[in-house]
Amino acid sequence: MNSQDDLFHPVIELPEPTRRARYERLVGLDDMKLRLRKEAALLADPRRLRNWAVTHHGGNVAALTHFADRAPLFVFAGDVGSGKSALAESFGCDLADFLDLPVYLYRLKLATRGSGLVGEMTSLISDAFAHMHTMGNRVSGPQGARAVQILVVDEADALVQSREAQQMHHEDRAGVDAFLAGIDSLAGARLPVVVVLCTNRVGALDPAVMRRAAATFTFTRPSDEQRYAVLTRAFDGLGIRPETVRKVAELTGPTGNRPGYTFSDLTQRLVPAAILRAFPERPVTDEDLLAAAEELEPTPVFTEER
Ligand SMILES: Nc1ncnc2c1ncn2[C@@H]1O[C@H](COP(=O)(O)OP(=O)(O)O)[C@@H](O)[C@H]1O
Ligand SMILES: [Mg+2]
Repeated sequence: MNSQDDLFHPVIELPEPTRRARYERLVGLDDMKLRLRKEAALLADPRRLRNWAVTHHGGNVAALTHFADRAPLFVFAGDVGSGKSALAESFGCDLADFLDLPVYLYRLKLATRGSGLVGEMTSLISDAFAHMHTMGNRVSGPQGARAVQILVVDEADALVQSREAQQMHHEDRAGVDAFLAGIDSLAGARLPVVVVLCTNRVGALDPAVMRRAAATFTFTRPSDEQRYAVLTRAFDGLGIRPETVRKVAELTGPTGNRPGYTFSDLTQRLVPAAILRAFPERPVTDEDLLAAAEELEPTPVFTEER
């Protein structure tokens, strides 16, 4: 049996200020945020759904039975740098606030992959799920959960690949099967455990995994308004004119021959590049921002072939 340290990066108790700030800075993900809050609240305390039915429909309703055996799996799919990891690792802060419970963030270590031992992937995954069961049982009770656990499987295409890609890689298929078994063991277990699987290549995910997801969220590059919102926030207090920010939001949009900037192209490349033009001699100016936008190229679209 792998120890907790072999399986996961250090477990983080949420809420935590850095992650809460990160959650709040995420632009354009409000629908997903709300949905995750609702789903996780039901896992933490299934009685909430019955209470809702009583309040709004005068008693138990047939539709509730369809909630009983759902797998607590959410797939975050879409472009690189669009907030999948950031949301997966921070939505627990909102959940903790909403439920007034501690939330524990577990991030599966996929790094051991490739070291070659047959059975290693299988044991990594099944031990991880076994661990989630043990910890989940410890915090659940008839009065609802006393804590919620989030298991994040990031860059999951390394772990869960489609059957077609499997012919040569026996061990990868074993990883998929272990993951499916783990998810199935959680469905209907009534444990306060939420699993989030992030991937840039939703087409490469095993259909059996996709079928089990309670919801799949697709993350996209920012719209004009979203780029404007991210840039406005990033340059707050620096005296950059709103017209300039507007102009840069336009410049960083899609054109005939290239896609628009990703969220991370803006936050992790454009903003630092503009600042570093001025640092350390002088204050940053509108020209720095415009010049940085002219110089940078957006991240190419991630294609399934790669
Ligand atoms: N929706 C968003 N709103 C604001 N910033 C974002 C958003 N998505 C991504 N970012 C920025 O890009 C960085 C990288 O995002 P990340 O979550 O790692 O992307 P990925 O989808 O590849 O996992 C984040 O830390 C954040 O600074
Ligand atoms: Mg990521």
